[in-house]
Amino acid sequence: MPDAREALRVEDIVKRFGPVTALDGVSLTLAEGEILGILGDNGAGKSTLMKILTGFHQQTSGKVFVRGAETLLRSVDHARSLGIECVYQDLALANSLSIYHNMFLNREIVYPGPVRLLNNRAMRRRAAECLEDIGVNVPSVDLPVEKLSGGQRQAIAVARAVNSDARILLLDEPLAAMGAREAGLIIDLIMRLKQKGNISIVMIMHNYAQTLDIADRVMLMQRGHVTYQRDSASTSVAELMDIVRREYRAMRSNSY
Ligand SMILES: Nc1ncnc2c1ncn2[C@@H]1O[C@H](COP(=O)(O)OP(=O)(O)O)[C@@H](O)[C@H]1O
Ligand SMILES: [Mg+2]
Repeated sequence: MPDAREALRVEDIVKRFGPVTALDGVSLTLAEGEILGILGDNGAGKSTLMKILTGFHQQTSGKVFVRGAETLLRSVDHARSLGIECVYQDLALANSLSIYHNMFLNREIVYPGPVRLLNNRAMRRRAAECLEDIGVNVPSVDLPVEKLSGGQRQAIAVARAVNSDARILLLDEPLAAMGAREAGLIIDLIMRLKQKGNISIVMIMHNYAQTLDIADRVMLMQRGHVTYQRDSASTSVAELMDIVRREYRAMRSNSY
């Protein structure tokens, strides 16, 4: 179970893009070791919230606290330096490069000295260790990423984030466009990371049942607001669907 120490806290975040208010006062907390699942319709503001937490966007107003310290996340690199890593919907792996090169992309191990010479042997070994440690099976870390299935590629992207000592992992629809078997691979990986207990995860999800299986807590976003939050154990797919259905009906009746 998650302990009470706080990994992340967001207070009253507003984000405007010109006339569009993408986030209209969003607050959340994430405990160390906790998995928070975010659900919501297209356009609800889920990705915008993630992009603020990952330092890609800056909020119009509101506060972000990382492990209790108020922090304005200036850039993706800044967030990364604080142990916040994001795995994006469109993965950003280099498909023609090997698995191990991808796992060290932009933080390659090089030999000491004036010439930048890649220490492939060290990267290969560490990549294999990392994958074994978190239980991701690939035939060889020498394989180019393009030879992998969608689920395996997603697993490598998650492994890359973990390999960089991420303490807070942000996943934007990690199971999108995956079949049940592929999704199972990623779900198992996330559950193993949770068991290791040193990482907190925020994940945007589509499937209610999968969300309730994986996440400790679920949060529903609608039109830039958090409209519902509950421990997974004390809600159900039926309850979540009911909330969304009511919202949908209210919107339809308003538009006539
Ligand atoms: N870079 C941007 N510029 C302008 N509007 C944006 C931008 N990013 C998101 N939006 C708008 O903000 C709202 C929330 O979008 P988003 O966060 O992508 O929602 P979700 O991920 O929940 O589908 C939408 O109305 C979207 O059009
Ligand atoms: Mg999105």
